[in-house]
Amino acid sequence: MSTTGVSEHMSVSGPIDLTGRVAIVTGAARGIGQAIACALAREGADVVAADLLSVDETISDVRDRGRRALGVGCDVTKSADVAKVVNSCLDEFGKIDILVNNAGVLSRVGLEETTEEIWYRDVDVVMTGAYRMTQAVFPSMKERGYGKIVNISSVSGKIGGAVSKSSDGADALHGRSGPAYAAAKGGVLAFTNWVAKDGGRYGIYCNAVCPGGTDTDMTRGFDYGVESLPIARMAKPEDIAEAVVFLASQASNYVTGQALNVDGGLVMG
Ligand SMILES: NC(=O)c1ccc[n+]([C@@H]2O[C@H](COP(=O)([O-])OP(=O)(O)OC[C@H]3O[C@@H](n4cnc5c(N)ncnc54)[C@H](O)[C@@H]3O)[C@@H](O)[C@H]2O)c1
Repeated sequence: MSTTGVSEHMSVSGPIDLTGRVAIVTGAARGIGQAIACALAREGADVVAADLLSVDETISDVRDRGRRALGVGCDVTKSADVAKVVNSCLDEFGKIDILVNNAGVLSRVGLEETTEEIWYRDVDVVMTGAYRMTQAVFPSMKERGYGKIVNISSVSGKIGGAVSKSSDGADALHGRSGPAYAAAKGGVLAFTNWVAKDGGRYGIYCNAVCPGGTDTDMTRGFDYGVESLPIARMAKPEDIAEAVVFLASQASNYVTGQALNVDGGLVMG
């Protein structure tokens, strides 16, 4: 089976094996993005780790797994930074097989306190950031006839904000993810479907993962009431990363335009 493109996208699904693949992961400095970079590397992929923060730890994790790694400082709200990530990847590794749009920020204020500044920040990083990165990798994926794009959305994008409260109970009204975040994550799902519909003919797959409450810096100090879930614990970044590996691999060669909840059973169906 070819690993270089052309009619490869018509291949039937097979076992997970990312040997020789090249992946870009945004927001890869910590949390879910770091776990995704490590899991992709474990399965054989070389990784470009992009983030506002230092990605040194992620780079050494990827290299520890025997894969090549490149760190690129990047703010996904800046087109020039996005172009730098994509060009650096092409210069260093010659291709892009996988893009994981993971960078995100979360505001927790209610509707009346959501200023335009807060609104645009969440939308710019989460939704427009995914658009910028996807647009930037598209020509090269199209030319090679292959690409797996995975967008990290959220259950918030499906149910209008995951409910949580600050663990100390002091700020009970502001734990739930805010309207800007929910709208941005919902937008990511619609964008995912658009890209999936358009990309299929070029061998480009696009799917989303919708995590529930996951134990990272983003959720520290908030109580997600997980004891009432069918799987009664917070997710760990690795829970999300393994779903991404499936969608980034040829194990999912008949799956596109899907939003996979990885949420312990919070949202069913
Ligand atoms: N933790 C959760 O419960 C949860 C649930 C659902 C979805 N998510 C989503 O998962 C993704 C990862 O979140 P996490 O929990 O690991 O949070 P996190 O805050 O630990 O990590 C987010 C990463 O994105 C980076 N980032 C933020 N803005 C950026 C920008 N403009 N450009 C480049 N990088 C930027 C941060 O520096 C950070 O490294 C986010 O999209 C988040 O919305 C998280």
